[in-house]
Amino acid sequence: MSLMKRRELLSSLWLAGLGLVAATGIWTSWDILRPGAAKGFGGKIRAFPPETVNDTGVIQVSAARSYVTEVNGDIRALSWKCTHLGCKVSFCDSSGYFECPCHGSIYNRVGDLMSGPSPRGLDEYPVEVGEDGLLYIDTGVVIEGPSPGTVTVDEPPKGPGCAQGTH
Ligand code: FES
Repeated sequence: MSLMKRRELLSSLWLAGLGLVAATGIWTSWDILRPGAAKGFGGKIRAFPPETVNDTGVIQVSAARSYVTEVNGDIRALSWKCTHLGCKVSFCDSSGYFECPCHGSIYNRVGDLMSGPSPRGLDEYPVEVGEDGLLYIDTGVVIEGPSPGTVTVDEPPKGPGCAQGTH
């Protein structure tokens, strides 16, 4: 092989390698930055159409470890993790409040702390409607729950609590 042909071959291989590296970089960046991509917990979780949400109850979204509800026209995703020591709170249909099974903290439907040892209301995750018209919960961003004493909505318990001795 002549010196000229060897140089041309090496030059072609170099350009092909450069092209491959660039293509891989673009592919990886697109995968990371793609808007609205559904990921596991810690990323954006695709949920359901926003019309599904109402202002009387909550919808559990297990993949986002949260409950979705509506407050004054805004859709909110509340973390199901009790702000005391992290137990999973459950929603009690009869009272319309969240109850923590561990040490008895009670939160109203919008996550305000009503009683118990927790230092604040339930934390929240930002929500947005994606290009596909579905609701996305960004579990990579935590918005700290409201301070004790904050009452966002005037919703007394609808009835008896689910845990014994509550309300
Ligand atoms: S972990 Fe919920 S009240 Fe303690």
